[in-house]
Amino acid sequence: MKSRSLFLALLATTVCGTAAETREANYDEAKVNMAPLPDPLVLASGQPVTDAQTWTKQRRPELLELFQAHVYGRLHARPAEMKFEVTGVEPAALHGLATRKEITVLFTGKKDGPKMNILLYVPNNTKKPVPAFLGLNFFGNHTVDPDPGITLSTAWMRDNKEAGVVNGRATEKARGFQTSRWQIEKVIQRGYATATIYCGDIEPDHGEGWKTGVRAALSYEGANTQWKPDDWGAIGAWSWGLSRALDYLETDKDINAQQVAVHGHSRLGKTALWAGATDERFAMVISNDSGEGGAALTRRNFGETTAIITKTFPHWFCPRYSTYASNAPALPVDQHELIALMAPRPVYIASATEDQWADPRGEFLSGKNAGPVYALFEKAGLGVAEPPKPGQPVGDFIAYHLRTGKHDITEYDWEQYLSFADRHFRRK
Ligand code: GCU
Repeated sequence: MKSRSLFLALLATTVCGTAAETREANYDEAKVNMAPLPDPLVLASGQPVTDAQTWTKQRRPELLELFQAHVYGRLHARPAEMKFEVTGVEPAALHGLATRKEITVLFTGKKDGPKMNILLYVPNNTKKPVPAFLGLNFFGNHTVDPDPGITLSTAWMRDNKEAGVVNGRATEKARGFQTSRWQIEKVIQRGYATATIYCGDIEPDHGEGWKTGVRAALSYEGANTQWKPDDWGAIGAWSWGLSRALDYLETDKDINAQQVAVHGHSRLGKTALWAGATDERFAMVISNDSGEGGAALTRRNFGETTAIITKTFPHWFCPRYSTYASNAPALPVDQHELIALMAPRPVYIASATEDQWADPRGEFLSGKNAGPVYALFEKAGLGVAEPPKPGQPVGDFIAYHLRTGKHDITEYDWEQYLSFADRHFRRK
């Protein structure tokens, strides 16, 4: 077992007080026993879907409804009172390469209400408006680049020595801690804007996090509130936040809001996929090592499973999802249908060789099995039947690569995403 998987299995064991998860994680392809996948191209009525219009008008809404009801829950509407406040602009950030903007989104229009802070870099000396990348970060906006001008997050985060978080708060030591994962200067030099938000601004990532996040602020109805089986979970809340960030980007004249790529790593990759599914304004979707509950097929018993994820992180999903913990084949959907919800927009799925916990093969197979939906739009998918070797990206409108190395986002991953965006946004 890889060290990350071992750590997580131990964590699951500690959190849940049982060793069952450790035994459940299978890493032997010969022991994969996958129930047949549901067919995205058959309507609930049993009729086949043979054209793009029937997909768009009938089948896509059916599948979206199933994912809302069984996996991620329903999203709240955009609050009418929401306001944007530009809190800072530095035209000569990153040695003059970019303009740094910081924007606070007041979800209910009130300064003392729930809010999130967007960090946005726009390339200087480039024709505007520019396409943009948008993604959530794990440890605060100040971690994505050493730029000393980024406001240090004051939101709660889990203590982490390496990430410079002490007593639930970020310290100066945290600046730039995730630089390699964001490659801000490279993205800017390639002519793209790049925007990010700390996921914990929207909802802190723990079982009780909803109490101080948007779910409490927007859908809590008093002390007796019982979450309904299809209420939104943390992934829903975070993806909702991404849509609210896109609402802002639509108002910023430097940004081409028709060309915004939503991306994310791991749990935030699951979130990017759900944002892309629920909000078709996102023109491109990128999943980096999103694994179980993200790009990986749920029905495959390889690496993390529904049983494990719903025990360790039940708050990420709608309450009904946990009822499938020991019976994933009963789910009316599988994750290839989530990928299909992106059609015909370009979607990129990335895995890493040492990230077996996320089931690289299962991530590839999701992309492959979404192919027939893209074909309705005459858009080419992965173009190969078997996963490529490490370092050999494949695909057109559905793309995939397997990077050598661990669970992470690296310069290599970004190189592929930038080329993918160049190709599809026609910026060669
Ligand atoms: C855990 C979890 C994964 C998740 C990952 C992350 O490993 O089991 O499902 O993707 O955390 O977000 O880092």
